[in-house]
Amino acid sequence: MVNAAVKIDKLVKKFGDFTAVDGISFDIEEGEIFGILGPNGAGKTTTINMILGLLKPTSGSITINGLDAARHGNDIKRAMGLMTQETVVDGDLTAHENLEIAAELYHIPKDKIEGKIKEALGEADLKDFADKKAGTFSGGMQRRLALVRAMIQDPKLLILDEPTTGLDIQNRVSMWEHIKKMTDAGVTLILTTQYLEEADTLCDRIAIIDHGKIKAIGTASELKKMVGTGRIIDLLLDDQEDAQQAASIVKSRFKVTPTVSGDEVTASIEDWDPRMLTELMSVLEKKNIQVVSVNVHLPTLDDVFIKLTGSGLRDSASSEHVSARSQVFMRR
Ligand SMILES: Nc1ncnc2c1ncn2[C@@H]1O[C@H](COP(=O)(O)OP(=O)(O)OP(=O)(O)O)[C@@H](O)[C@H]1O
Ligand SMILES: [Mg+2]
Repeated sequence: MVNAAVKIDKLVKKFGDFTAVDGISFDIEEGEIFGILGPNGAGKTTTINMILGLLKPTSGSITINGLDAARHGNDIKRAMGLMTQETVVDGDLTAHENLEIAAELYHIPKDKIEGKIKEALGEADLKDFADKKAGTFSGGMQRRLALVRAMIQDPKLLILDEPTTGLDIQNRVSMWEHIKKMTDAGVTLILTTQYLEEADTLCDRIAIIDHGKIKAIGTASELKKMVGTGRIIDLLLDDQEDAQQAASIVKSRFKVTPTVSGDEVTASIEDWDPRMLTELMSVLEKKNIQVVSVNVHLPTLDDVFIKLTGSGLRDSASSEHVSARSQVFMRR
């Protein structure tokens, strides 16, 4: 049997009358990359802080490598790498100095420190910036430095709380590559994120949480199957009036209930057949309804999130999704 590296059982955290974490349970296996996906205020950081022993659970338990987190906080912290949501590197120190301090803090033997730092700078693509002050780095460079700093003592368990929030899409993608590369070594990783694509790209399993509760848990493909095995069709129309008309046509032809948002129509269609698209387009054309673009795709985590919570996760994250999922894309 594979060891559960982390076992979380009926975990609850209340702040006064407010329940931030509301009875969550899950196990994380050794070497697994586990994602906690949820919007602002879902309870991600509160959960992480309890795993770290920084916050005491109101009830429930956390076991890490067989140790109760509430009783063995210090042992656990020593074996763990951490990059919190607010983690900042020291801007007045150089990249090298930032890593040196971390290495000393973790009692890495003196004769090993220089080699470790070199390796870390290489992994972060910061070799040429070793002696530059971290305060002059871009946001992406600072996060990469923070990531290798969190891993300087080769932790068994790495915790990254929203490692890419606030980064632009290029830096986010580059950070994903670094995280992937560095977790190849078999470290167990708990990662929180507001970005569906991040969870989809990096995580072996994902727990979707909202208002402190787990809404669903599984691999990305298991979660996507919850929406169905058919296709999602997105239509962008010229205006809202056309969107309403297109929606009623989609509804009557496919026997589904589309959602209309402004000039966009979205419908989930089981038993998808590519001919359906040609047919729909010709009906719309006959009715003189202008289609600006049409996008047919497999369900994404965004669709799962909408189904589970009734709303999208974040506008910025979902709009980035559109470009990544196009299978059919037409523009007139
Ligand atoms: N110390 C505290 N006292 C009172 N309420 C708190 C405290 N810490 C967190 N909360 C509340 O608990 C809820 C969950 O917060 P948490 O920081 O865990 O969310 P999150 O999922 O990490 O969100 P974000 O994506 O914004 O970081 C929020 O409504 C927050 O306001
Ligand atoms: Mg948070």
